[in-house]
Amino acid sequence: MRFKIALIACASTIVMIGLPARAEDASSARGGEIAKTRCARCHALDEATASPYPGAYPFRKVLERWTSEDLKTALTTGIIASHPPQDETVHEMKLSPEEAADFIAYLQTLTPAPSPR
Ligand code: HEC
Repeated sequence: MRFKIALIACASTIVMIGLPARAEDASSARGGEIAKTRCARCHALDEATASPYPGAYPFRKVLERWTSEDLKTALTTGIIASHPPQDETVHEMKLSPEEAADFIAYLQTLTPAPSPR
């Protein structure tokens, strides 16, 4: 019982600290953390290199292909992608609306590489 009370107290502290930050605008810093910790093993995050996972678009290219509104919808609905030749499901990730906004704010800080077109 004591343990349970401690847990509840702890959770409410996190909520209290978390709320003011969440009430602010989307944060590219938080978005960058998401990208680094959850996406970087497959998607290139920098300005020039290819993605570690074949077929995963480097993040600097994503906003050339999606409007931020569409991307936000896709990220919060969950992008499910399976990709040949590996043919495994690579994406079953789903972000909260806050995470998606942060992630898109981060994408907007990436400079797209000059396109040959
Ligand atoms: C296991 C590897 C892997 C991880 C981890 C991963 N992705 Fe992907 N992602 C892919 C692949 C492969 C594709 C391309 C799928 C296709 O075209 O069918 C893709 C496609 C995408 C697309 C669509 C890009 C486009 O322009 O069509 C977005 C957006 C995306 N990923 C976001 C993310 C985000 C955000 C994360 C982290 C929260 C993440 N991915 C983590 C492998 C991964």
